[in-house]
Amino acid sequence: MISNICCIGAGYVGGPTMTVIADRCPNILINVVDTNAEKIKAWNSEDLNKLPVFEPGLRELIKKVRNKNLFFSSDIDLCIKNADAIFISVNTPIKTSGLGAGEASDLKWVEASARRISENANGHTIVIEKSTLPVRTAKVIKEILSTQEIYENDNERNKSFSVLSNPEFLAEGTAIKDLQEPDRVLIGGDDKNAILELKKLYLNWVDKHKIITTNLWSSELSKLTANAFLAQRISSINSISAICEATGADIKEVAKATGLDSRIGLKFLKAGPGFGGSCFKKDILNLVYLCKYFNLRQVGDFWEQVIKINEWQRNRIYEIIVKNLFGNISDKKILILGFSFKANTNDTRESPTIGLSINLLKENANLVFHDPQVSFDQIKNELEKFTDLQKYTNQISFCSNLYNASDYADAIIIMTEWKEYELVDWEKITKKMRKPSWVFDARGILDISKIRTENINIWQVGNGVIKN
Ligand code: NAD
Ligand code: UGA
Repeated sequence: MISNICCIGAGYVGGPTMTVIADRCPNILINVVDTNAEKIKAWNSEDLNKLPVFEPGLRELIKKVRNKNLFFSSDIDLCIKNADAIFISVNTPIKTSGLGAGEASDLKWVEASARRISENANGHTIVIEKSTLPVRTAKVIKEILSTQEIYENDNERNKSFSVLSNPEFLAEGTAIKDLQEPDRVLIGGDDKNAILELKKLYLNWVDKHKIITTNLWSSELSKLTANAFLAQRISSINSISAICEATGADIKEVAKATGLDSRIGLKFLKAGPGFGGSCFKKDILNLVYLCKYFNLRQVGDFWEQVIKINEWQRNRIYEIIVKNLFGNISDKKILILGFSFKANTNDTRESPTIGLSINLLKENANLVFHDPQVSFDQIKNELEKFTDLQKYTNQISFCSNLYNASDYADAIIIMTEWKEYELVDWEKITKKMRKPSWVFDARGILDISKIRTENINIWQVGNGVIKN
C-alpha cells in the first residue's frame, strides 16, 4: 500500500500532479522536492499569486492541501528515504552538445535522480517515471538502481526497487481538469505487484476502465506517439491555413467541416502561429532520433516534417507582417499581445512569440509586450536565451494597459489566445493607432465582422488580409 510519496521535480508536471493526488488521496503523505530552492520557496509562498506555476484551479487546491498532506521541501534525501513510491518528474530537454546534440534527450537530470534514489531509499521502493523519456530509459534507471545496490551491499537497509512508467498527458492551462478527469492513465511495467499498487492509487478517483497497463517500452513509446500525433494535427491544419489564405477558403469552416467526421474529430484543429511549449518539439526530435538509431530513416523523415512545417508557419507569419508594413518596420511601434506559449499558463518555453520578437527587433522595430501572466522580467530572460538583448534594450517595453499601449501603434499582433484579447474594445483601440494601422491575428480569435472599422487593416491566420 503506497502511503508516502516523494516527487522529484517541482515543475509544471510535478507541482500540479502531486497537488491533485494529495487532494484525492488525503491519507497519503506527499513531499515534492527540487534542487531549485527558489522554486520550493515559491511553492511555499503565503501569497498564492507567487506560486511558480499558474494554472486555473491550482491555487484553490494548494490552499486546501498544502501543509496538510502535501509538502514542498528541499530535503531531498530525507523525503526519498521515507517514501515507498517515488515519481521522477524532472526536466528532459534536448541535448545541446555532444553526441545526439539537438536531437536526443538529455537524461542528466533523470540519471541524477536515479542515483540519489539508490543512495537514499529504504526498503522496497516503487520508482515511477513521470517525465517523458526515450524508449528503454527504464532500463537505464533499473541499471543505476541495481548497480548501487551491489556496490554498497547495504543489507541492513534491504533496498529493492520496482521501476514503472507512468507518463503524464496533462496539457498546461487545463492541467488540473486533465489530472482530475484523465482520458486514460497509462502504467507500464513488468512487476505485477507494483503495477497494482500504483493502480490502487489512481483508483481513488479514476474509473478502472480508464487505467490501462502495458509493458514498459509500450508505455514510454505511447507518450512520444501521443505528442507526435497531436503536434502532427497542428502542422496539418497550419499547412491548410496557408491554402485557405491563398484561395479564399476560411480555415475555421474547413476545420469544422473536416473535424465533424467522427474519425477525425474537432479537437486540435486550431490554426495558429505554430505550436510552442517545452514538449512537442523535443518529443518529436526524440522520436526522430530513435528512428535514426534503428535505421528507420523514412519514418524519421516523416515525423521531422511536422517540425519543419511548424517552423515554416512561424516564419511565414513573420514575413506576412513585414510585407504588409511596406517591407519596413524600422522605428515602427508594434504591440505584441501574448508571450506565453498558449493561454491560461505562465509558461513561455518555446513560445512562438520568442522567435517572432527577435526577428522584429532585428528589423529595428519598437516592441511593446503585453501578457496577463508573464512579467517583463520573464520576457527579457526568455529573449536573452536566444539573442544579445543588450543591443535591443531601447526597443522593448511592457505595458499592462492595452488602451494606453495602443497609442500611435503601427501594428498589433495577437500571439496568444488569452480570452481578454477577444473581449477588448477593438474599435476603441484601433482608433488610437497610427494610420495605416494593422492587426495581425495569428490565433484567429477575432470576430472580424464585429471589429471591422474604417481605418484598420486586418490579417487573420487562415483567412488572409481583410481590407476595408
Ligand atoms: P520543469 O522544468 O517545469 O520541472 C522540472 C523540475 O525538476 C525543475 O524544477 C528542476 O529544478 C527539477 N530537477 C531537475 N533535476 C532534479 C534533481 N536531480 N533533483 C530534484 N529536482 C530536479 O519541467 P516539466 O514541464 O514539469 O516537465 C517534466 C517532465 O514531464 C518532462 O520530461 C516533460 O517532457 C514531461 N511532461 C511535461 C508536461 C508539461 O505540460 N509541462 C506534460 C507532460 C509531460
Ligand atoms: C501537450 C499535450 O497536449 C499534452 O497531452 C502533453 O502531456 C504535453 O504536451 C506534454 O507532454 O508536455 P501542452 O504543450 O501543455 O500539452 O499544450 P497543448 O494544448 O498541447 O498546446 C501545445 C501548443 O500547440 C500550444 O502552443 C498551442 O497554442 C498549440 N495548439 C494547440 C495549436 O496551435 N492549435 C491547436 O488546435 C492546439
